[in-house]
Amino acid sequence: MKINFIGGSSNGRTPGFGPGYWGSNPYPPANRNKKINFQNDMKKADFTKKFINQIICGSAVDIMKELPDRSVDLIITSPPYNLKNSTGNGMKNGRGGKWANAALQNGYSHHNDCMPHDKYVKWQRDCLTEMMRLIPEDGAIFYNHKWRVQGGLLQDRQDIVSSFPVRQIIVWKRKGGLNFNPGYFLPTYEVIYLIAKPKFRLSEKANAHGDVWEFTQEMNNDHPAAFPVNLIDRIIGSTNAKIVLDPFMGSGTTAISALNFKRHYIGIDISPEYCEMAEKRIKQHQSQLKLFQSVYEKQD
Ligand SMILES: C[S@@+](CC[C@H](N)C(=O)[O-])C[C@H]1O[C@@H](n2cnc3c(N)ncnc32)[C@H](O)[C@@H]1O
Repeated sequence: MKINFIGGSSNGRTPGFGPGYWGSNPYPPANRNKKINFQNDMKKADFTKKFINQIICGSAVDIMKELPDRSVDLIITSPPYNLKNSTGNGMKNGRGGKWANAALQNGYSHHNDCMPHDKYVKWQRDCLTEMMRLIPEDGAIFYNHKWRVQGGLLQDRQDIVSSFPVRQIIVWKRKGGLNFNPGYFLPTYEVIYLIAKPKFRLSEKANAHGDVWEFTQEMNNDHPAAFPVNLIDRIIGSTNAKIVLDPFMGSGTTAISALNFKRHYIGIDISPEYCEMAEKRIKQHQSQLKLFQSVYEKQD
């Protein structure tokens, strides 16, 4: 397992720059009194150094197992959808798919996206079980997935989320793909399951966003299935979370958005290539934020 350390100004008073953002205490005021169960003798300092504002290259379940109970406030993630295990030809013969460039025809760099369905469901349920352990009583998981038609019937992913506390399904309306199946209408949305512990609350006025969100999918990213940043901005801006985890971080979009809102991030991805992509993107974004801030301070 390779651990990469990212960013980190020592005084941390500039937007989102490293663990010191809240001074020497890695936990923002709202989180300081939360009981975190540090396992395996892991001290807070070790947790901060190893995980806070880091992109970690490894398998989602394995790395999440290293994190203490209730140690993150919010999880936002889009797992591989297992699209290449399909009864149709959508992703098999190069006719296109979810994203404009249909790059997913080749799977991900280190994951073929073609698991036997039962194995895939078990894997995703194991991921959700770990995620549930990692959030506190006021924590939440925004779990993005795609419903699709398989063998002429809707596959609505209920087998993955059943028994988890799904509070709401947000519809992410995006532009249609290239799926011209005459048996059903062109799919134009994905879903985001809001899986929440009992005390989770939105930030003030965020509920006015409603439950159908329209954002064009990301087309300007070398990762084959990146989130659009404004979608994740909508989620993070709708919560008071201070530490945000994405166990399938890909190109680092969740981290970019966390920085936009001065929150801490933890990112995991199996692909060294995507981890590197995320690190570069985060560094560039931090430089941009610094620049904006210096211009803003000059104008003040
Ligand atoms: C849908 S993409 C996430 C894209 C990300 N939201 C973004 O904005 O770039 C799913 C990611 O899961 C990663 N992945 C696949 N298997 C994994 C595993 N076992 N553990 C961690 N990451 C994995 C892939 O490398 C891919 O980057």
